[in-house]
Amino acid sequence: MSGTSRHDAWQAGDSYEIYMGRWSRRIAPLFLDLLSLPRELDWLEIGCGTGALSAAILARCDPSSLIAIDPSEGFLEKARAGVPDPRADFRRGDAEALDLPDASRDVVVSALALNFVPDRAKALAEMRRVARPGGTVAFYVWDYPGGGLQFLRAFWSAAAARDPKAGDLAEDRRFPFCTADQLENEAKAAGLLKVKCRPLETPTVFADFDDYWRPFTLGAGPAPGYVASLTEEARDGLRDALAHALPRQPDGQIALAARAWAVTAKAA
Ligand SMILES: C[S@@+](CC[C@H](N)C(=O)[O-])C[C@H]1O[C@@H](n2cnc3c(N)ncnc32)[C@H](O)[C@@H]1O
Repeated sequence: MSGTSRHDAWQAGDSYEIYMGRWSRRIAPLFLDLLSLPRELDWLEIGCGTGALSAAILARCDPSSLIAIDPSEGFLEKARAGVPDPRADFRRGDAEALDLPDASRDVVVSALALNFVPDRAKALAEMRRVARPGGTVAFYVWDYPGGGLQFLRAFWSAAAARDPKAGDLAEDRRFPFCTADQLENEAKAAGLLKVKCRPLETPTVFADFDDYWRPFTLGAGPAPGYVASLTEEARDGLRDALAHALPRQPDGQIALAARAWAVTAKAA
């Protein structure tokens, strides 16, 4: 495991929900609105995590079936418990080698996961392979390079100011390809057709500084993994720097915003 992926720490479903799942659940319906697909299709979701998009698919799209894969047993357990629907089948799997036949799914989607897959070209080729001809292949990732995830950009700016090594762990440095142009090009290179990339945006409002900071102390995800690696003194220093830097509303809320890039395409 590389020095950076070691910090990804995708295991604890409850912690992930508080850190990222709550924002991911806001983006999922916007993505499904964009797809605007008919009912009773066979869906596949790659990197389902704790089931944010899976739950939205089942609630809004009335699928015939949903296979949702993720390598993290901890996340799958949380997803199975949170999404007890007979149409859903949560399985352990890897985006780079899908254990599914060619042309077997109508819709293949992925939420906030493809940037974490080491060989994205392979993952996109797999998504295309298992989609039926004319089927939909679509995914979204945060706009890390454009500073689209403002709460995380603020975190890494404060961390890098105190610890030069932290800059290398920041998602905007690790995932510079998460731009509209590059994502579109990668989807086209995988042989997908009618490729379009559009922004999905949601406010991310924290009730107070504790609501902002606590998720970073819970260990699930790259930034929380980094916080867990710090000494108590360094952690307190980072917390105080952020408490000082973040803008507050008169009622103490910290009102930020998040933007993801959604790529939609068709399989040949
Ligand atoms: C930021 S989480 C997103 C989870 C969920 N889709 C959501 O929207 O909240 C990234 C997910 O990618 C998964 N992941 C990492 N590497 C993967 C791979 N090679 N194949 C499939 N999923 C992977 C992680 O286990 C994690 O659940």
